[in-house]
Amino acid sequence: MKRILHISDLHLPARREGQVAALADAVARLRADLLVVSGDLTRRGSRKEFAAAAEFLSALPKPQLVIPGNHDVPLFPLTRMTRPFRRYRKALTEDLAPLHVDDEIAVAGLNTSRGVQARLDWSLGRISGRAVRRATERLSAVPTDRTRIAVTHHPLAPDIADLRRSQVRGAASAVTSLALAGVGIMLHGHLHRPRVDVVDVASRKVVMVGATTALSDRERGGGSGFNVLDIVDGVLTVAESRWNGTSYELEPPRPVPVGASPVVAQPV
Ligand SMILES: [Fe+2]
Ligand SMILES: [Fe+2]
Repeated sequence: MKRILHISDLHLPARREGQVAALADAVARLRADLLVVSGDLTRRGSRKEFAAAAEFLSALPKPQLVIPGNHDVPLFPLTRMTRPFRRYRKALTEDLAPLHVDDEIAVAGLNTSRGVQARLDWSLGRISGRAVRRATERLSAVPTDRTRIAVTHHPLAPDIADLRRSQVRGAASAVTSLALAGVGIMLHGHLHRPRVDVVDVASRKVVMVGATTALSDRERGGGSGFNVLDIVDGVLTVAESRWNGTSYELEPPRPVPVGASPVVAQPV
């Protein structure tokens, strides 16, 4: 069995008193094999906010797999366009495409955030063919019995509840390539709402798991919280730990709606 805690969209600093400490406490108590943070650690990509993010992550259990979100590039246009991830790299990690492999799971992070792109709304996601090739090559080198998981900030398959903010350039071919490389679970943030649904990709079932914002008060109907993923013999359950105003409370697992079976792990 492996337990992954999936937190996202922290948007530090938090506005609600006590919520950061409560989140750290909930994460520590749930004893995960891996902590995934799927981007938007800051609000405006400032040095002060990154310092708060680094301090927060340093107090949480390891191992951690962290990727940037669109809020983690500086708001100031010149810095954003020329050196979008310099502050992120300096404060948190040099690696924008981390890989975690253990005896049961292989988890690849891919960067979908940009400081600038050929459309007005640079906060929307984009994924490059090169990043996808690198991830699939690395995942292909992992023993076939590992459950393969991809992590992005933006959703690689649209969430019907928020189609506008689900637009990710390159997502259709990325999701196909990753599915063909055996990825059966894709984690994302950005939409600030929880999500568990299944998409059919290249004759395979892929479970899309979105985490709502862990701390922010900019929720879009989902409250704040984070996801607890348990994988037992290739079968996934997803539960949400929700902020109730004073602490994070674990909800009953949400069903994975794929026929009668919640099986997720895909044979390669
Ligand atoms: Fe966000
Ligand atoms: Fe975002």
